[in-house]
Amino acid sequence: MLINALESGDGYFSEGKFGPNPKQFAMEPGKTGGSRLVVVSNRVGLPDGNVRAGGLEVAIRAALKRRGGLWFGWSGRVGEQPGPAKLVEQDNTSYMTVDLRNDDYDEFYNGFANRVLWPILHYRLDLAEFTRRDLGGYFRVNEYFARHLEKQLRPDDIIWVHDYHLIPFARALRERGHKNRIGFFIHIPCPPPEILTALPNHEQLIPALGHYDLVGFQTDTDAINFSRYLANEVGLKRTGTDSFAFGDRSVKVGKFPVGVETEVLSRLARRAIESGFVREVLDSLSGRGMIIGVDRLDYTKGIPERMDAFERFLGNFPDWRGKVTYLQITPRSRTGIPEYADISRKVGEAVGRINGAYGEASWTPLRYINKAHSRTALTGLYRAARAALVTPLRDGMNLVGKEYVAAQDPVDPGVLVLSRFAGAANECAAALLVNPYDPEGVGNAINRALSMSLAERRERHEANFKALAANDLSHWAERFLGALEHRAADEVVPAVRAAAVR
Ligand code: F6P
Repeated sequence: MLINALESGDGYFSEGKFGPNPKQFAMEPGKTGGSRLVVVSNRVGLPDGNVRAGGLEVAIRAALKRRGGLWFGWSGRVGEQPGPAKLVEQDNTSYMTVDLRNDDYDEFYNGFANRVLWPILHYRLDLAEFTRRDLGGYFRVNEYFARHLEKQLRPDDIIWVHDYHLIPFARALRERGHKNRIGFFIHIPCPPPEILTALPNHEQLIPALGHYDLVGFQTDTDAINFSRYLANEVGLKRTGTDSFAFGDRSVKVGKFPVGVETEVLSRLARRAIESGFVREVLDSLSGRGMIIGVDRLDYTKGIPERMDAFERFLGNFPDWRGKVTYLQITPRSRTGIPEYADISRKVGEAVGRINGAYGEASWTPLRYINKAHSRTALTGLYRAARAALVTPLRDGMNLVGKEYVAAQDPVDPGVLVLSRFAGAANECAAALLVNPYDPEGVGNAINRALSMSLAERRERHEANFKALAANDLSHWAERFLGALEHRAADEVVPAVRAAAVR
C-alpha cells in the first residue's frame, strides 16, 4: 500500500520536477569542504513526477538542488513484508527509501509522531494520545532507519536530519559508532519546558537531541524554549551563549527561519496568472474579489476559527456581501488519525453554515476544496487574490504566507492577514498580524485588507518582500550547513525582519 503523500501539504505542492537544471546550481568549489550532504527526513521528495506535499520537502529539495548528495527516508509504502531499500539517482542527487511495516506505520507515524509529538509541540496537550507501545514503535523505526542509512554512510558525510519524526536518530547513529557531523532542524514549534515536560517519558526522548552537533529552530522563541529545557530539565552546562556540554561533546542551538524562493516564485506567479486555469477561476468569480486560504487539513491551521472570522466579517460588513469570494484550498492529511476526521467534519459544517446563511443563488461566499494544486497554479491564485488568510493557531513557520508575499504584483499587491502565532510573523511584520482566537479581530482585519489604499498595500508588500528576499531559501540551507560545518561567520547571511507598518 502506498500511503498518500499526495493528499497533504502545507500549501506548497511541487510539480514533481526539479525546476531548473540542478547543474546550474552546482555548489561552488570549497563551499562544502568536500563533504557529501546526506539529508534524512520521514518524507522524501522523490523525482517521480507527483504533486507532493509540505514545506519540508520544498525546503530540502532547494538545498539539495544546489549541493547534490543523498536524501534518505520513508518510501511512503506500508505492508506486512517491506521490500528492499530502493535507490534512485537523478542529476546530482541519490534518493534512498525504505518501506514501513504496518505496525511501524501505526505506532511511529500515526501514533507517537502524529498523535503525541505533533499536538504537544503545537501546544495542544489536550489532543495528545500517549501510549508506551507507540513510543516503542517510534524508537524502533528510528533504529531501523539508522541501520539502513549506515550502509551508505561515508565517514566525512555531513548529515542533516529533519523534523520531529527523527529526534533520536543521531543517538541511533552514535551508538553504532558514527562520528559524522550531524545537524537537526525541526520545522515545527518547540513549546516551553512547562509544556514539553507534560510529554510522558520526555526525559527518555528530548535529551537525545544532545547527540546532534547542531539543533536548529524556526524562531528565537523556539530556540530559547529548548535551551531552557536543556539547562533546567536536563541540567546541561552552557559552554557558550548558544552551546551546551553533552558528555564529551557539545551541542549548539540556533535559529534558522526557513525562507522561500522569492525570485523564482515571483517569476512563476507572473506567468501563472495568465494561465488558462487561473483565468477560468477568475472568470467564475464574475468580477468579484478573491480571498485565499491554502492549508493542509490540520487542527493547527485554525481553519474553523478562520471560517468563524469570515462569518463575522460578512455579518459586520454587509457591504462586502456578494462582492468577495473566499477560496479555501485544503488537501486532506493524515486521514488515519481520528483528530483529522474531527477537523474535517468541523470545517465541512462551518462551510455549510456560512454558505447557507449568506449565499445567494448567484453567489457562494466560501468555496472549499480538498484537491491539491500544483505550485504553479497556487502562485497564480496567490497573485490574483486581494487578500490571503494565514491564521494558524500555532505554526513553526508557515510558508504559504511567505509564498503569497513573493507571488504578489508589487504594483498592485494583495494583503497578507497573518497569525501572530506563525513563525512567519517574525519576518512578515508588515502583514496585518492577527490573533486567530479572536474572530471579531480577524473579521475586522479582512475588512481592513480589502479596503486598504494602494499606497499602504505597496508599502507593506515592499517591506515584507525585502525581508523575505534577504532570507531566500538558498540562504537558509547555507546558513544552517555553515553553522554545522563551523564555517566563517562572514559567509552567513543575517535574517531580516520587515519594518512594521501601522
Ligand atoms: O512540517 C511538518 C510536516 O510533518 C512535514 O514534515 C511534512 O512535509 C508535512 O508536515 C506533511 O505531513 P505528512 O508528512 O504527515 O503528510
